[in-house]
Amino acid sequence: MGGVTRDQHEKILKTRHKAVILRISFREWLLRNVSPSTWESCSAWWRSSRNRSFLRTPRETLSVLKSEGYQQCSFIEGTLESLEQIEGDRFDLVFARLLLMHLDDPILGLRQMYGQVRPGGRIVVQDYYFPAVDSYPPVEAFAEFKKVFFGVYNEAGRDTRTGIKLPGLFIEAGIGPPDGTDVSGFLLPSRVGAEMLAAVYRSVLPVALKHGLTTERQSLSFLEELRKSQSANCYILWPLLVSAWRQKAAEDRS
Ligand SMILES: C[S@@+](CC[C@H](N)C(=O)[O-])C[C@H]1O[C@@H](n2cnc3c(N)ncnc32)[C@H](O)[C@@H]1O
Repeated sequence: MGGVTRDQHEKILKTRHKAVILRISFREWLLRNVSPSTWESCSAWWRSSRNRSFLRTPRETLSVLKSEGYQQCSFIEGTLESLEQIEGDRFDLVFARLLLMHLDDPILGLRQMYGQVRPGGRIVVQDYYFPAVDSYPPVEAFAEFKKVFFGVYNEAGRDTRTGIKLPGLFIEAGIGPPDGTDVSGFLLPSRVGAEMLAAVYRSVLPVALKHGLTTERQSLSFLEELRKSQSANCYILWPLLVSAWRQKAAEDRS
């Protein structure tokens, strides 16, 4: 994803962070923004060679936070599945956005995260529900987008429906049913949404070509049609962002 589209994506998601943090009555956390005992995101600061070019790297994020005065932040490099108990206190808030859909074993990932929550603390998880992607008026190119994007996820053994599964995954992981959920979506004018979709499409295209899910020709014609749709009076429904959260009981030392 290029700079502009990444920023647009980030701006959209940030509004949902704030809404969810307010919904879980974590106002104090919001006011302090990043507290010394907050382990902010298992995902954003962690390295994955798979999609490093797609995102701001963890080290960049850390240096931005430090330059903004959050000296207490640190970055632990590793995979969630093999994470050991972090030294010192457990955390008031363990938060992960768009992480579970990348894991081989999301249940294990959730267990690992929940293990880092202090008694009385909270786990908050956000993930996409991709099947919602749509447009009106219909854009023919959407069929190509869905074929390629869903096909690549399928080939990689990843789930495009992780968002809708969050409550079930919480239960299966032994966390229990969420205290609350939030579902949000955006209808983006195609001048913004088409560019973002094109960026997502390009990021999975090499894998799609490798698996014969599309051809160079089809992809060029898709990108051209999407480019044309930017001037059309069309709105794109972005994947739904689902959030789920739960507070750990004060007596729960698990
Ligand atoms: C779509 S990005 C989301 C990044 C960030 N949380 C956000 O919302 O912008 C997926 C993230 O999952 C991380 N990730 C993928 N597999 C992981 C694993 N096994 N353990 C820890 N992080 C992982 C990647 O490093 C990447 O940062």
